[in-house]
Amino acid sequence: MNFSSQRKETFAVTTPLYYVNDLPHIGSAYTTIAADIIARFERMRGKAVLSITGTDEHGQKIERAAQSKQKSPQSYSDEVSAAFIALWEKLDIQYDRFSRTTAENHSAIVKEFFQRVWDKGDIYKSQQQGWYCVACEEFKEERELLEGHYCSIHTNKQTEWRDEENYFFRLSYYQSKLEAFYQAQPNFIQPQSRRNEVINFVAQGLQDFSISRVNLDWGFPVPGDPSHTLYVWFDALLGYITALLEPGSEPTLANALAKWWPIDLHLIGKDILRFHAIYWPAMLMSAELPIPKLVFGHGFLTKDNQKMGKSLGNTLDPVALIDRYGADAVRYYFIKEIEFGKDGDFNETRFIDTLNADLANDLGNLLNRTLKMAVKYGYTNIPSLTSEAITEDNALKIAGVDLGEKVAQAYDSLSFSQACEMTLNLVRTGNKFIDDSAPWTLYKQGKQQELEQVLYSVLESVRLAAYLLSPVIPNTANKIYEQLGFATNFNNKHQISIEVPFATHAKWGILSGGNKLGEPQPVFQRLESR
Ligand code: MSP
Repeated sequence: MNFSSQRKETFAVTTPLYYVNDLPHIGSAYTTIAADIIARFERMRGKAVLSITGTDEHGQKIERAAQSKQKSPQSYSDEVSAAFIALWEKLDIQYDRFSRTTAENHSAIVKEFFQRVWDKGDIYKSQQQGWYCVACEEFKEERELLEGHYCSIHTNKQTEWRDEENYFFRLSYYQSKLEAFYQAQPNFIQPQSRRNEVINFVAQGLQDFSISRVNLDWGFPVPGDPSHTLYVWFDALLGYITALLEPGSEPTLANALAKWWPIDLHLIGKDILRFHAIYWPAMLMSAELPIPKLVFGHGFLTKDNQKMGKSLGNTLDPVALIDRYGADAVRYYFIKEIEFGKDGDFNETRFIDTLNADLANDLGNLLNRTLKMAVKYGYTNIPSLTSEAITEDNALKIAGVDLGEKVAQAYDSLSFSQACEMTLNLVRTGNKFIDDSAPWTLYKQGKQQELEQVLYSVLESVRLAAYLLSPVIPNTANKIYEQLGFATNFNNKHQISIEVPFATHAKWGILSGGNKLGEPQPVFQRLESR
């Protein structure tokens, strides 16, 4: 028997490893929410999932941030890293690995990788001159800068002129190999607009990039030359590999790459596309390792149309937002309201209106009013029907029958807002269906069979909607499932991947008379503006 064919299909997803120069903001939360949703979805589909997040703790940016707080870089990193972990807990993020670039096992991986690239002849020493943005931790071309040599991303930060001896990585050697790779793997960079951006950039010609710094203490010494410190991005990207080590295993590349490599999906913001779509594959080619399958660059959350960020200081505090409105609300808003890949502006009024309309009114009310009717008409259980007993012209059956597959396709292509919208359409159809079929009249007229068909199809549609939205709003989905007589916890990874199979629960028509109705309670409280 082929052992490997018995193994579950694996799926490894990463968020960027966040800089610890400041507390996490909603922009960092955005990528992590998206990663969590896709991880939850793949788990629902029955895959073995490894969801990776973490913090990037070396380099000048962190060294300076710590200095300004009169702390050592390590203790400052410990503090901020803990704040990321606390935020992920609050947001119900189910990560499997939290990779810190100051973790002990990381340095062994970095050394081994550096050695492979060195042995390949891809590292050499030369003079580096150029404008450096510490906030980006990146050299910039003169033409990319704003007037006065300000960074175009961190518009309040002036770049600094550097003229120093550095070690370089021979990126130029990989130009044609990268171009061939993008051709052969047309889906490697998504969305399409970002792929075009990368291809155009590479076509202009790739320059070697420096992978060491002098006058910087906070980082790994360059193996064999401790007078240089390794460039933070060289070390940070390798954090994805370190994260794959089983806890307690010896930190070697072979161990790290054994099960989950190549990574299926790197989710990143568009600001760090070049690192992931150009530098990273080239480094991996040099080390002769397989390349991850997909890099998806999403847009920016903006405030007054400027990127929200720690360096600009125009951020939105996610902790305050969750405390006020709850994790599901925050998760839902950013995922449903912003097309993944595009920029999106935050506006509190729109936030409240969207949640009230979609979750409190359309979804919550539909369940609540239908359950109340069922209780009033004397039902303690779901009417004892099956999908087959519902007539083929039933609008909800028609809308629900292949919805699961369509929504799955939307999740698969990371079209999260579309997945939510399609599901909400079923819910809206449910509200209209109730109004049109007036179960209160059917009850008065003693048309029990028709009444039961209406109650069944509405409750089943709410169930299906809850299931399909559960990666986004797990807590609301839990409440809905509970009121429909299930003992399901969408936050229980094991239960979701084993006991609530997608093949069954994503179908319309699985409720049965065995399901006891719970007490009707609002599943999503209306939000009030301050
Ligand atoms: N440390 C690097 C990543 C190394 S990965 C090996 C880094 N960190 S960061 O904290 O500055 O930003 C990480 C990511 O946070 C961005 O790529 C993006 O995914 C997210 N965002 C930060 N600000 C954002 C917005 N305003 N909007 C959306 N996402 C943003 O870069």
